[in-house]
Amino acid sequence: MRNFVFYNPTKLVFGKNTIDKIGEYLKKGKIKKVLFLAGGGSIKKNGVYERVVRSLIENDIEKVEVWGVRPNPVLSKVEEAIEVAKKESVEAILAVGGGSVIDSAKAVAAGYYYEGNVWDFYLEKVRPKKALPLYTVLTLSATGTEMNGNTVLTNERTTEKFAFGSIVVYPKVSIVDPEVQFSLPEHQIVNGAVDAISHVMEYYFDGAENTELTDRIDEGIILTLIETTEKLLENPKDYEARANFALSTTLALNGISGLGHKGGDWASHELEHAISALNPEVAHGAGLAVVFPAWMEYVFTKNVEKFAKFGENIFGIKDDNTEEVAKKAIRSLRNWYKKIGAPITLKELNFDYSDIDNLTEIACKHAPFGELVKLEKEDIRKIYEIAY
Ligand code: NZQ
Ligand code: ZN
Repeated sequence: MRNFVFYNPTKLVFGKNTIDKIGEYLKKGKIKKVLFLAGGGSIKKNGVYERVVRSLIENDIEKVEVWGVRPNPVLSKVEEAIEVAKKESVEAILAVGGGSVIDSAKAVAAGYYYEGNVWDFYLEKVRPKKALPLYTVLTLSATGTEMNGNTVLTNERTTEKFAFGSIVVYPKVSIVDPEVQFSLPEHQIVNGAVDAISHVMEYYFDGAENTELTDRIDEGIILTLIETTEKLLENPKDYEARANFALSTTLALNGISGLGHKGGDWASHELEHAISALNPEVAHGAGLAVVFPAWMEYVFTKNVEKFAKFGENIFGIKDDNTEEVAKKAIRSLRNWYKKIGAPITLKELNFDYSDIDNLTEIACKHAPFGELVKLEKEDIRKIYEIAY
């Protein structure tokens, strides 16, 4: 196990009817005026907007609204929101929505105090020193952004989808009320499951050794996600399944799942970000369902034992031949993705074989990447070929 420092400053407020408390938490934080950031309108259909507004009114909190953050969020919307935040001198950002809204809110919170363009943070030219306090109401469990310091944004002017992580953008308070996710369409449940499973796997397969406890936590998260996803696809209003699913996605990327690790592999995430940068219609989870198993196929011989352990503990595969177990593990994961309706090939995402050049070029902007295996350009191309 590696040495580590674990610190997570986000207060997680979890459970039924917690949304109605958002105003109280803002008041406790001495916030009087917020920038209210939201997506395309789902929160108006499922009653979340009304409940948040009521709670703000009850606690005398003023708001300025900015709408229109889209899935695979873009820089221009963040720039617009920063201007509004500055003009209106807000004291905090209140993000109400899924990962895209919360990630954009992190950019606005840090961009508020920065004179240059916020994209500089994503290019790692500078690190943010300060940010407005961020409060979130999560409506889609998938990314873990409600309890971490990461943000992913697309610069539509350069077709780059980059991320940065900073302690200053961890949410102060995040409300996760699983009931409001009853309105999610099936494919968003599937995307969320694949994304969260991938977050855990990024750590699980980074090559760290002697991480027994973390491995068991990780296997527990994955097994819970598998079980609850199946239950939710049967009955989307199963509260207990929804709640266990939601908690699993938060724990998948709030630091717990990587304790004592090497920081994670993250190659599959790099490979996916190129996919959704090139085609913003592709959801992050869908892209991961395609590239993660392809990455596994390409690298599993570098750590056969660990891939076999995954196969045994997640899918109950038994075989004296370790390599066989590892191979079956990858096959089982793909089959499960297929069973829940996730795409498993680039073709299903409407890419042509000729797009592999483009994807490779885009992904290479960050190459070499990966912890278990450092992927160079040729490796990247080969993985996309496997994924095709
Ligand atoms: O925009 P609205 O109308 O709100 O609709 C959204 C959106 O269309 C809808 N939705 C959200 N909550 C709903 C709902 N529909 C019905 N009922 C509800 N309760 O769902 C759609 C997708 O939302 P989005 O926020 O884009 O999804 P997700 O949470 O999966 O976020 C994906 C983004 O997060 C990034 C991804 O790359 C992608 O850009 N990631 C962020 C990470 C992080 N910050 O730690 C890590 C991840 O690896 C990931 O890269
Ligand atoms: Zn992800």
